[in-house]
Amino acid sequence: MERSRIRPDRLPRHVAIIMDGNGRWAERRGLPRTEGHRAGVEAVRATTRAARELGVGWVTLYAFSSENWSRPKDEVDVLMRLPEEYFETELEEAIRNDVRIRTIGRIDRLPAHVQRTMGDAVEKTRNNGGMQLVFALSYGSRGEIVDAARRLLRDHEQGKLTPDSVDEKSFAAFLDDPELPDVDLLIRTGGESRVSNFLLWQIAYAELHFTDLMWPDFRREHLEAAILDYQGRERRFGLTSAQVHGNAD
Ligand code: IPE
Ligand code: IPE
Ligand code: MG
Repeated sequence: MERSRIRPDRLPRHVAIIMDGNGRWAERRGLPRTEGHRAGVEAVRATTRAARELGVGWVTLYAFSSENWSRPKDEVDVLMRLPEEYFETELEEAIRNDVRIRTIGRIDRLPAHVQRTMGDAVEKTRNNGGMQLVFALSYGSRGEIVDAARRLLRDHEQGKLTPDSVDEKSFAAFLDDPELPDVDLLIRTGGESRVSNFLLWQIAYAELHFTDLMWPDFRREHLEAAILDYQGRERRFGLTSAQVHGNAD
């Protein structure tokens, strides 16, 4: 099995996933798109469990983008029911397994019932130090960066910082979750090779893994395959290969 070949000492610290293809999965089966979203919840369960069991430290899931608000209202309504469906089984599981739930995105734009569900999950797992599981909801990366600039300007107005004190590290502290580490591995299902306004700041040096599989079909073995793909890459961060291997002059 793939799993036995995964090197536990070289796991990606942060795996981010663009869970795409629910609609097409359903349409291919002659089902309404919303059935694809429902089936996608099972893939979220399987994937989050697998990531935790493998020992991945951070997982960020793109669940609903700021652009997705423009979809038909019926579809948005179904998508807004999914957090409840997921946490119905997974909140206890998270509590039991030391998983901490976090959110990024414009949570205040979500319907009150979703805010309650997410708030409850975040609150009940606040002190957990195992896997950090981040849900990007009503999230768009440009919006996040603009919000960061706004917060930074407010601090400037209050005399808390000067233009010269702003660097990449201090700027990142104004993003939605200041503790969110850089992404090591970005996975996108659904066959498209684009990032669709997801974590633009945090994926600067991520390894990208695209798969044609539709999200509802994604399971443990596909996460393992993506991690194996990642482990076969050479991350150079701008250096030469010789430098990376420590045999430069
Ligand atoms: C991803 O699946 C789920 C969300 C974007 C919320 P899609 O609904 O985008 O599925 P496709 O891409 O239309 O197949
Ligand atoms: C990206 O998928 C957003 C989520 C998976 C939540 P989309 O289906 O919205 O992306 P585009 O429109 O194909 O770029
Ligand atoms: Mg899509």
